[in-house]
Amino acid sequence: MTEESSRDLENLLTEERRFPPSAEFAAQANVQADVYARASADRLGFWAEQARNLVSWSTPFTEVLDWSKAPVARWFGDGRLNACYNAVDRHVEAGLGDRVAIHFEGEPGDTRTLTYAELQREVSRAANALVALGVRTGDRVAIYLPMIPEAVIAMLACARIGAPHSVVFGGFSAEALNSRIVDAQATTVITADGGYRRGAPSALKPAVDEALTKEAGSIVQKVLVVRRTGQDVAWQDGRDVWWHEALEAASDQHAPVVVEAEHPLFILYTSGTTGKPKGIFHTTGGYLTQAAFTHLNVFDLKPETDVYWCTADVGWITGHSYIVYGPLVNGATQVIYEGTPDTPHRGRWWEIIAKYGVSILYTAPTAIRTCMKWGEEYPAAHDLSSLRILGSVGESINPEAWIWYRRVIGGDRTPIVDTWWQTETGAMMISPLPGVTTAKPGSAQKALPGIGADVVDDEAHSVPDGHGGYLVLTEPWPSMLRGIWGDPQRFQDTYWSRFPGLYFAGDGAKKDDDGDIWLLGRVDDVMNVSGHRLSTTEIESALVSHPSVAEAAVVGAADEMTGQAVVAFVILRATATAEGKSAEDVSTELRAHVAKEIGPIAKPRTILVVAELPKTRSGKIMRRLLRDVAENRAVGDATTLADSSVMDLIAAGLRAPSDG
Ligand code: WT7
Repeated sequence: MTEESSRDLENLLTEERRFPPSAEFAAQANVQADVYARASADRLGFWAEQARNLVSWSTPFTEVLDWSKAPVARWFGDGRLNACYNAVDRHVEAGLGDRVAIHFEGEPGDTRTLTYAELQREVSRAANALVALGVRTGDRVAIYLPMIPEAVIAMLACARIGAPHSVVFGGFSAEALNSRIVDAQATTVITADGGYRRGAPSALKPAVDEALTKEAGSIVQKVLVVRRTGQDVAWQDGRDVWWHEALEAASDQHAPVVVEAEHPLFILYTSGTTGKPKGIFHTTGGYLTQAAFTHLNVFDLKPETDVYWCTADVGWITGHSYIVYGPLVNGATQVIYEGTPDTPHRGRWWEIIAKYGVSILYTAPTAIRTCMKWGEEYPAAHDLSSLRILGSVGESINPEAWIWYRRVIGGDRTPIVDTWWQTETGAMMISPLPGVTTAKPGSAQKALPGIGADVVDDEAHSVPDGHGGYLVLTEPWPSMLRGIWGDPQRFQDTYWSRFPGLYFAGDGAKKDDDGDIWLLGRVDDVMNVSGHRLSTTEIESALVSHPSVAEAAVVGAADEMTGQAVVAFVILRATATAEGKSAEDVSTELRAHVAKEIGPIAKPRTILVVAELPKTRSGKIMRRLLRDVAENRAVGDATTLADSSVMDLIAAGLRAPSDG
């Protein structure tokens, strides 16, 4: 915990800023306060009840949890079901075929509406098309698409045939796509010519073509290409197939493939503390249960009347659980927006909320802070009175942004749910419950019903209220990851060995005097930039793969807008120094190199060329000291450095800062 965050916390607690739920809201909320007690009295019975009520089973389960092979859980293990059937078909069968599933708003202003009945026909066609291309149950399919309805349709079509999808965020590079395809051995890729971003078409297909010149090329058999922008694309006959042609040729009738509850639903790669991203994999029954339960109750969803909008991209877990599976399993109506919040103007989001009457908005603190900076005149120009619930995810929401969100966007009437969870947890774990909890700006508050969370010290002892430590999960939960694809040992080492018997989340946290949880940021070598997880080691490896770089150290430095920002310290090779390039040129070149290796989101905000890096005698880089420099603080205790003059050298060399 930094000194600053602990001070903020003290201030908040003494100021007693509390927002109790209104009586009117509480009376109509989906859940009542007794839900916590009910869940803890019979935790497994509680989850079994959710699984029966919220999910349809082809074969009902009789067993709830098998934890005998911990840390790999089996939930509802003898049950059988299909995820796509749950998200689509059963709503049509229930007579809700005319309900809008998706209001799509393209960045250029084009729109498309898909009812549940239309969605059923589209996913059936897509499933038949995938089968015709040779995709079978169990095969992995990589999806690399912009935020268009086809992204949802493609994921559901995979689920329909039991082919685990691996969605790769469209902002990742060809290199990143290649390594993810190889790791999952994905035989099919679904992509598009491009999508619209910041007012212009942005190509995607060339990155796929480039990825397939690498190792991935020997694995991938077929590439399905959605036509979105009409950009010219290179074409490889026999491998590349137009999505619209394949779907036109396919029947709109398809029987969902029933799979076991523990059948893998998807793989999603996330950054860890090493250079190699982890393929987090989730299975079907437990995942759907918790995604649906949390979406329904944390957002107090009324499926008949609410219009829900989650601004995330399907390339992240938020998009998987709270655009695709949670909302659709609950039969919700939602908005999907393709583009950026300021295209063509800074009021775009607020215009969309007014246009569709959005009542539940789920977004990230970094976006809220950006809108705050742009000014109140943009939201003020639109009617936002349809909003009744606001959600936040990705990092702690600072109290100032929380209060602005509630006052300016929510008009002082909307509960805010600050939801803590991870790619690994699959669904929300710690969050207020609207209508039940008294909100505290900045705190994620309480483990949800049926979830066990705690804050522990170095010896795994639960800390008393008012103290800080490490966030752990104490009980298996339905939507937990079932492992790291192809690497069970890394699964064990990363999450289960720090504190035996407990899941270590990688976050620091504090319990306040009421026992409410406050998240204090990562305690490992993982950064959180705009709610996206980046690994210091992964960016360091990208930097040292450039011929000019001898050594690199990356830290996450506090940043007002993005939460943390990537700051890199590099030592150049003698050959590069001899070329006499300016610091600006080096910085530009290295930032472009990182974008190429990983993706634009990983580009360092600042690159500092230094002569030395601070290391311990055993050669470990002391990132803590570099963070002090990057955050313009006095450098902390440097007595364990092998060479104590290094920090002076760095400080002296940085007097004239060079910023990319
Ligand atoms: C990490 C997980 C879950 C979807 C978005 C990110 C941080 C997430 C919160 C929150 C404080 C949060 C944690 C966590 N985080 N939500 N409400 N308050 N921190 O998913 O990439 O898997 O990252 O994001 O550090 O461990 P992810």
